[in-house]
Amino acid sequence: MNLALALAVVVPVFNERANVALLVEKLAAALAGRAWEVIFVDDDSPDGTAEAARALAATDSRVRVIQRIGRRGLSTACIEGMCATAAPVVAVIDGDLQHDETLLPRMLDALEGDADLDLVIGSRFVDGGGTGEWDADRVAKSAFATRLSRRLLKADLSDPMSGFFMIRTPLVRALVPSLSGIGFKILLDIVTASPRPLRFVELPYVFRTRVAGESKLDHVVALEYLIALYDRMFGRIVPVRFVLFSAIGAAGAAVHLGLLALLLELAPIGFVAATILATVAAMTFNFFLNNALTYRDRRLKGARALLDGWVSFCLVCAVGAVANVGVAAFLYDVRGGAWAVPALAGVLVGAVWNFALSSRFTWG
Ligand code: GDD
Ligand code: MN
Repeated sequence: MNLALALAVVVPVFNERANVALLVEKLAAALAGRAWEVIFVDDDSPDGTAEAARALAATDSRVRVIQRIGRRGLSTACIEGMCATAAPVVAVIDGDLQHDETLLPRMLDALEGDADLDLVIGSRFVDGGGTGEWDADRVAKSAFATRLSRRLLKADLSDPMSGFFMIRTPLVRALVPSLSGIGFKILLDIVTASPRPLRFVELPYVFRTRVAGESKLDHVVALEYLIALYDRMFGRIVPVRFVLFSAIGAAGAAVHLGLLALLLELAPIGFVAATILATVAAMTFNFFLNNALTYRDRRLKGARALLDGWVSFCLVCAVGAVANVGVAAFLYDVRGGAWAVPALAGVLVGAVWNFALSSRFTWG
């Protein structure tokens, strides 16, 4: 008779080909005697991580692989992995062997031994834990990010930045609609999404040094962290996408004005023609920035999709552009020669249309 599946270990992986086999070996050793499975969630890594994981899965039914194509994101990978199991309890652990998998049985015992407990967190900042061989710079940055989340979100955990934890599957499944899925901090996302305080315990571990592969934590990830914090605090009032769209729109306005000034100075084409040119340039600039940031989770990729997206962006914004040029030209006439205010008013009217229509038709 088979033991009922007790635990799913979800492992987000991107370019971890060299680590997957060793991780499965270590999980098997740590979880001997338990009924467990491991779910690798790969975002179509160029190094063939999914292939390597499938090679293991072919001969070991405890190993499963989700390969997401055309998607990126650590948090959303964890979410999809956690939703893909029949196990009553699910753990999340990095795929690069930096987390201490020998903690898993104790985490599971804690949850199985106490029905009131929701969550067990691997923490580097309780007695016995540590950040291992981090340099002073990373320690300082991590401490700053932790303080930010404590202050802004009132997250009362010793290590809210941890990506190593175990939680009851039905609980996390119920929270999924409230998760932002932005960036790296899936634990923080879960803890702050819950309508009631989660009951948790923290177990110490020492963060190991990465041996194979590279960290994916970069400036974009740091920016995403701030975006995620904003989303949790004000996202219900002013959606984070609208804030990004507006900020990019402001940058687009600068492109528009700069180019317009240049054209008026250098090219003998008149105000309306110059405004049309500046509008198209700003629209193109906005399309690419919005594609990279505002809609990075459903980013259009490849020449064909980009061209289609750009065309649809231009089409849906045609109404906005007509309004833009119309308003600008009208005000320019009225004000006789002052161009900045008419141009800016045109851009503003256009921006409102652009957001409303493009969110639905270009990235909808
Ligand atoms: N599927 C998927 N998609 N996996 C990803 C992605 C992605 O876009 N980005 C990173 N990963 C995987 C990596 O392959 C690795 O297994 C794990 O997520 C952690 O990524 P690292 O790039 O190694 O991050 P880190 O070591 O700087 O930080 C990690 O450890 C911290 C301490 O616990 C993260 O998990 C942090 O969230 C965590 O706080
Ligand atoms: Mn790592």
